[in-house]
Amino acid sequence: MKIAVIGTGYVGLVSAACFAELGHDVIGTDVVSEKIDKASRGIAHIYEPGLEDLLKTNLKKGNLSFSLDLDETIQSSDVLFVCVNTPQKEDGSADMTYVEGVSKRIAENLNDYKVVVEKSTVPVQTSMWIKRAIDLYKKKDKTFDVASNPEFLREGSAVSDFLNPDRIIVGVETEKAKDIMIKIYEKYKDRLLVTNIDTAEIIKHASNSFLALKISYINLISELCEKTDANVELAAKGMGLDERIGSQFLRAGLGYGGSCFPKDIRALSRIGEDLGVNMNLLKEADRINLKRIDVFVEKIKKAIWVLKDKKIAVLGLSFKPETDDIREAPSIKVIKRLLEEGASLSLYDPKAMENVKKVFPEKPSQISYAKSPYEAAEKANVLLIITEWDEFRELDLNKIKEVMANSIIVDGRNIFEPAKVRELGFEYYSFGRK
Ligand code: UDX
Ligand code: UDX
Repeated sequence: MKIAVIGTGYVGLVSAACFAELGHDVIGTDVVSEKIDKASRGIAHIYEPGLEDLLKTNLKKGNLSFSLDLDETIQSSDVLFVCVNTPQKEDGSADMTYVEGVSKRIAENLNDYKVVVEKSTVPVQTSMWIKRAIDLYKKKDKTFDVASNPEFLREGSAVSDFLNPDRIIVGVETEKAKDIMIKIYEKYKDRLLVTNIDTAEIIKHASNSFLALKISYINLISELCEKTDANVELAAKGMGLDERIGSQFLRAGLGYGGSCFPKDIRALSRIGEDLGVNMNLLKEADRINLKRIDVFVEKIKKAIWVLKDKKIAVLGLSFKPETDDIREAPSIKVIKRLLEEGASLSLYDPKAMENVKKVFPEKPSQISYAKSPYEAAEKANVLLIITEWDEFRELDLNKIKEVMANSIIVDGRNIFEPAKVRELGFEYYSFGRK
C-alpha cells in the first residue's frame, strides 16, 4: 500500500515522516517547491523537535520521498491523505478552496480505487463535499472512498504525539475503507475508534473547541482571582486534582493562539449557527480569549504609565514554546498595540524571529531584534514574557536587572515565582495572583 500526503505543512510533513517511520511507503507533495527541495534533502522547513532525524532516517531507508508532481503522486498511490490548509475567512468560516482544488485533481487522476482521507481540521460534512467533488469530475468507471482521520498532534511535540497517540479516530462509510485504515494504523489498533464520517469530523472540532473553552474558563477564573485574594495557580491545581476535570490546559495567561484553537472555535460556531444551533458558549470563550490582550496591555500601562517612547523588551514570539509558528500568536497582537502607542521594542525568541521579521521588519528606534534575552533587556523600561520558553525560566535575573533601565517584569505566562522575583528587587505583574 502506497501512501501519499498532499500538503507538507506542519501537519503534512510530520505525518509523512511518521507514516514512513511506521513502515509505510510514503510520498509527500506540496505546491511550494522550496518545501519539497528541502524535505527531499531531509531538511524541515519548519522547526519541530525530532522531525529532521525522522526525515533523514526514512529517506535513507528508501520508503519516504517527496515530489512536486501532484498528478503523478496521486496516480501512484493507494491512500491519499489531504493535509492542505483551510484558512479562516472574514466571517469566521473555513476557506475550503484548497481542499476543493485537491479533490478535483484527485478526480482527474483517479486511475484505480483509492481512499481519500481528510486529515486537516475541517468543518463537519467536508468529506461529503470532497466525495461529491470527486464524483463530479472523475471518469465514470473509477471507484474511491472518502474517510476522515483527524490529526491531534500539537506543534512542538508533534512527532511524539503522532507516534504515541491517545487515540486514532477514523471516520468511514464502507468496510473496504475501514479495513485499509485499520491496516495503516495496525500498530495502534487498541487505540482506534471507528465512527461514521460526520462523527469523526465533529470529534476533532469539538475536542479543539473544548480545550479552548477550558483555557478561557481558567482565564475567567484568573480575573476573579485578581479581584480577590485567590491564587489562580493553586485554584487550577485544586480543580485539576479532580480526575473529572484534569490538570491540563488550565494555565492562565495571555490565552490561546496557533493555527487551530482560534480558528476552530470560530468555525464550529459558524457551522452550528448555519445549522440553527445557538453557539454562544463558544463565542464567549473566543471573546474572553481576545480580551486577554487588552488585560495584558493594561497591566503594562499600570506598570509604566505612558507607553510612548518607552523601551520595551519582548521575550517570546511563537504562539507556544518549541515551535517557530507565529500564526495567531498573542505576540503579534501585543506588538501591534505597543507600536500604535509609540513604544520602542526589542524582540527576542529562540526560533520565531525570522517569521516575525516578515510581519514587523526591523526599523531603527522602533523595532529591533536581539541576539539574546539579555540584549533585548538592555535599557528597557519593562520586560514582557509572552511565550513560556524554558530558556526564559532559567534567565539570570540579576544580570537582567543590571542591564534594564527599570526593574519591571510583566509576565504573560506566569513563569516566575512572584516572591522570588520581588526579592531580587523587581516590580512584578502576572495573571491571577498577587
Ligand atoms: C493544519 C491543518 O491541516 C489545518 O486544517 C489546520 O486548521 C491548521 O493546521 P498546517 O499543516 O498547519 O494545517 O498548515 P500549513 O503549514 O499551511 O500546511 C499546508 C500545506 O499545504 C502548505 O505547505 C501548502 O503549501 C500546501 N498546499 C496548500 C498545497 O500543497 N496545495 C494547495 O492547494 C494548498
Ligand atoms: C492544538 C491541539 O492541542 C492539538 O490536539 C490539535 O491537533 C492542534 O491544536 P497546538 O495548537 O499545536 O495544538 O498547541 P496547544 O499545546 O494545544 O496550545 C494551543 C494554545 O493554547 C497555545 O497558544 C498555548 O499557549 C495555549 N495554552 C495551552 C494556554 O494558554 N493555556 C494552557 O493551559 C494550555
